[in-house]
Order: sequence, then C-alpha cells, then structure tokens
Amino acid sequence: MAVREVLKMGNPLLLRVARPVTGFGTPELEQLITDLFDTMKAQDGAGLAAPQIGVSLRVVVFGVEANPRYPDAETVPTTVLVNPIIEVLDRTLEEDWEGCLSLPGLRGLVPRYRRIRYRAFDPQGRPIEREAEGFHARVVQHECDHLDGILYPFRMRDLRQLGFESELERQEQREDAPAPPIPEAVTPPR
Ligand code: NI
Repeated sequence: MAVREVLKMGNPLLLRVARPVTGFGTPELEQLITDLFDTMKAQDGAGLAAPQIGVSLRVVVFGVEANPRYPDAETVPTTVLVNPIIEVLDRTLEEDWEGCLSLPGLRGLVPRYRRIRYRAFDPQGRPIEREAEGFHARVVQHECDHLDGILYPFRMRDLRQLGFESELERQEQREDAPAPPIPEAVTPPR
C-alpha cells in the first residue's frame, strides 16, 4: 500500500500525452494500480489517472460506492482501464460541476457528452467494453482526458464558473435562504 503524491496543475507532467501500456499482468502494472486506488481513496476521490502520480502511462482507475450520506448520488463501478478509447454515442453536451485532485479545493462547470461507449483492457489484458451515461460517462471522460494532458478547466466554456468549493457552497446556501425583506426606505419614491 502506497499513497503517492498527487501532482497539481502547473506541473508539466500533467500536460503530457501518456504512452500506451505494452506489458499486461506485470508486477509493475499491479503496483501502479494499487498505488492509484490507495491514493484515490486516501483523498476521497472518484477517480485518478496515472499521470497524476507522475507515471505517464494510459491507466485510469475510478469508482463511486453507495454513500448513506448521499442516497441520491449516482454510483459508478470500481474499474481499472488500461489503454482506454472513448466513442461518443450521444453528442448532446451536459454541464455539471467537477473537481479534480490536481486542482484541490476548486470546482468548475464542465460540458461533457451525455452518453459514451468505452473500450479498454483490464490489468491482465482482457478486453472491457461498456456503455455509460450521465455521471458515469462524465467520470470516464474526465479521467481519460488526463491521459491526453487535458485538465477540466481546459474544457470549460466560461471560466467565471470556476471557483473554490468553500466559496461556491457559501453562495449556494445564500441562494437557498429566503430573500431578506426589502426595507421600506429603499423602495423608490413614486
Ligand atoms: Ni482529475
């Protein structure tokens, strides 16, 4: 078990196109995958890509288990993808909030394709093929972007929708609160 350091935006390794894996079922690949899961779980992430721990190989892990605190949250199967390829099945773009362990504390509104098919290999070299939509499709697109040196802000349409989570949550709470009554003194004179 090894929790590795997660590289942060600004590190040029995050901007590189990662190399395909050529050897399956090797102890090195197993170790990399263990480290990715250990690091992801230690930081409570939904996914992690090998370049984020400084390994420029086309490997991602992800998974979101059912959380009793968020009964409505969508779950995503715990998965390892080696050399993944994404095919877009529905070109409709949906915007939703994303975070990334390489941009700690930040959140941004990111457009992603609604429905995809992804193909990849498992660590032993067996093929994987799945269709995904919604949050599952979003997580896969986010993680696979890391393999091409793309971080979520590069996909955003409006950088005004990028902010610190703590601040965004505070604004949200304000919007939920009932509007304060308008004092009589500020009503415009007739
Ligand atoms: Ni990320």
